[in-house]
Amino acid sequence: MRPTVFLNQRLNDQTMSRLGENCEVRVWQGEPPCPPEAAMEGLADADGALGHYRWTGELMDCSRQLRIIANIGVGYDNVDVIGASRRGIVVTNTPDVLTESTADLTFALLMATARRICAADRFARRGEWTAVRGSEALLGADVHHATLGVVGLGRIGSAVARRAAGFDMQVLYYDLVRRPELETRYGFRAVDLDTLLGSADFVTLHVPLISTTRQLIGRRELSLMKAGAFLINASRGQVVDETALIEALQEGRIAGAGLDVFASEPVAPESPLLLMENVVVLPHVGSATVTTRRAMQDLAADNVLAVLGGGPPLTPVNPEVLAR
Ligand code: 8YV
Repeated sequence: MRPTVFLNQRLNDQTMSRLGENCEVRVWQGEPPCPPEAAMEGLADADGALGHYRWTGELMDCSRQLRIIANIGVGYDNVDVIGASRRGIVVTNTPDVLTESTADLTFALLMATARRICAADRFARRGEWTAVRGSEALLGADVHHATLGVVGLGRIGSAVARRAAGFDMQVLYYDLVRRPELETRYGFRAVDLDTLLGSADFVTLHVPLISTTRQLIGRRELSLMKAGAFLINASRGQVVDETALIEALQEGRIAGAGLDVFASEPVAPESPLLLMENVVVLPHVGSATVTTRRAMQDLAADNVLAVLGGGPPLTPVNPEVLAR
């Protein structure tokens, strides 16, 4: 009998047909997000689950034969991994394929925040660009030769840091793991978090959301940042104490922020962040290029096909399940 896979979202046509050749595919056909009741129904007796969704223990219990949850995303804080391991379910993610696109977006966000790109665009569209005001309004901060502080020098953090080297930036990083090869090759310098916060003109966050990184950047950490510094976050919103960030911005204690992620998503329409001219707000688009999203979907599908075909997953996050 062909295995059954539930998808909370439709994928690109080629990946869909590849899955369809090997599995019975059940897809939530309505407008996203898929309601939990529909996910429960779709998961009944499913062998695999695929997509970016809040994969809870309750959902896992909808099927006695669920073998894999293939998350579309490198971060998997949306999956109850401990619950999955307890139930013997493999969880996979999509590392590597999104690294460079997410680093591009992070650097674009940094540049846009420093040079007030979105405010300048609004200014021009509003018809405020007069001969006099055009040259003096919208003065931003230099990116070249500035100091970049990278919190988390993993795959995406180091790809961002490599881009900064091209702008003659000095790169400091804070990570639990030293990266001597990157220090030698690019001149990145390892420092403790407080030193990084006190020295960087741009602080960019690239840590996964786990218990030790939740609100890693709080009131104290924000108070250590330089008055003219910017916070860039394309990791997870909950890595920052958003209330403390709003206060720091309102009080002018930091110069601005570029945010692709928020404590709660989508960002609330009443969030004060949406009214701040020195904040660039993006709707979590770090990996959103045609090629990368396609590659993420393909990798997730490959993981499903591998496990349901009796083989090992390509990118497991709980490999201990396989050892049983
Ligand atoms: C989203 C991301 O998961 O990979 C991650 O961890 O944050 C993003 O790529 C993706 O947008 C959801 O489809």
